[in-house]
Amino acid sequence: MTAHRGEPLLILGGGLMGLAIAHQLARSGRNVEVLSRRRNEAAGFVAAGMLAPHAEGLSGSLLTLGQASLERIPGWVGQIEAVSGLSCGLRPCGIVVPFATAGERDAYPTAAWGEPLDRPGLEREVPGIGSGWRAGLLFAQDGQIDNRRRLMRALERACAGLGVRFQEGVEVLELLRDGGALQGVRLRTAEGELQELPAQAAVLCCGAWSSQLLPELPIVPVKGQMLSLQGPRDALGRVIFGPGTYLVPREDGLLVVGATSEREAGFHEGLTPAGQRQLQAGIAALLPEASQWPPMERWWGFRPCTPDEGPLLGASPLPGLWLACGHHRNGVLLAAITAELLQAAIDGSRDAAQQALLAAFRWDRFG
Ligand code: GLY
Repeated sequence: MTAHRGEPLLILGGGLMGLAIAHQLARSGRNVEVLSRRRNEAAGFVAAGMLAPHAEGLSGSLLTLGQASLERIPGWVGQIEAVSGLSCGLRPCGIVVPFATAGERDAYPTAAWGEPLDRPGLEREVPGIGSGWRAGLLFAQDGQIDNRRRLMRALERACAGLGVRFQEGVEVLELLRDGGALQGVRLRTAEGELQELPAQAAVLCCGAWSSQLLPELPIVPVKGQMLSLQGPRDALGRVIFGPGTYLVPREDGLLVVGATSEREAGFHEGLTPAGQRQLQAGIAALLPEASQWPPMERWWGFRPCTPDEGPLLGASPLPGLWLACGHHRNGVLLAAITAELLQAAIDGSRDAAQQALLAAFRWDRFG
C-alpha cells in the first residue's frame, strides 16, 4: 500500500521505532510525517542501549530476529551517521554474563554462542568483579550504543535532513476508519486544537501506549527504573549483564545501570526506594568499587511487553495501519531490522527471509 501523492505516511510515535522507520522510508523517497506526544517518555531515551541477543538469553524466532538486527547495526548506524554528521556512540565492546556456578553457565539458553569463562577468566575480562561469581560467558559479538545521548538525536537530525516532518506535543486520540480501512487520525495539537489528519497509510509505534489506540493489541507496560554513575574513564571495558542488574560503560566513564522489571506498576510513574535499593544491591554484587562512584541521574520508563515478549511487526487488523511495537527489553537491538521489515511490508517488496520474520511476529500469533 502506498501513501497518496501529497499525503504523508504518518508515523504515530516519535520514539526509536518511529524514527528508525521514518529514516528508512524517507531514504527511499517517501513523504513521511512523525507525530509525537512526549518525546522524552520514549523507551529509546530510557533504555541502556545494550545490543544483546546472546547476553539476554533470547531463543527461537526472537533470537533469530535479534541476530539479524545485530548483523545490520554497523551498516545502519553508518547510514545515520553519514546523513546526520553525528556519532551514534556504537561500541562493539562485548558483554560478560556472570554466574554463581559453571552448571548455571552451561544451562544458559545462548551458552553455545559464548566463550565459557572460569573465575580467572572472569577476573581477566572484568577486573574488580564481585567475588560471588565463579563462572561466566563472554559474548564478544554483543555490544552497546549510546541511545539516550547520541543515537536518538542523530536519528532525529538524519530524518529532518531527509525531509521528514515532525509534530511534537501532538496526541493522537483516535484512528479514523472508512469501510474498515484506515482513513486518518483525530488528534489534539500542543496548542489544544482538535484536528483530523487524512492518511491512508500509517505506522503505529507508540510503545507501551500502543494498545490505547488499538485495543486488540496485547501490549502491557513493564516499568524499569535505572540510574547512572560517573566512573573513571576505562574502569570497565565490557558490559556486565547480571541477574536483575546490568552495568553499561559509556566511552566517557558514565556507567548506565539497569533495570527493575515491574509488571505490577502499570503506568505508575516515578522512582521507588525498593527499586533503587535493588539496583544498588546489584551494583555492589557485580562491581563493588562502583558503589563508591557518584550517581548522576535516576530515571524510569515503560517497556512495551507482549505475551511472548516479542514485537508485533507488519500488518495490523486495520488495513492501511502497520505495526512496529511491543519490543519489550530489546527495542534498541531490534530497531534496525524493524525498520527494514516495515519498509518491506509497506512497499510489498519482502523477500523470503523478511516474509518469514514478518510471519513469526504477526500481531495475532497468540491464538
Ligand atoms: N534491555 C534491558 C532492559 O529492558 O532492561
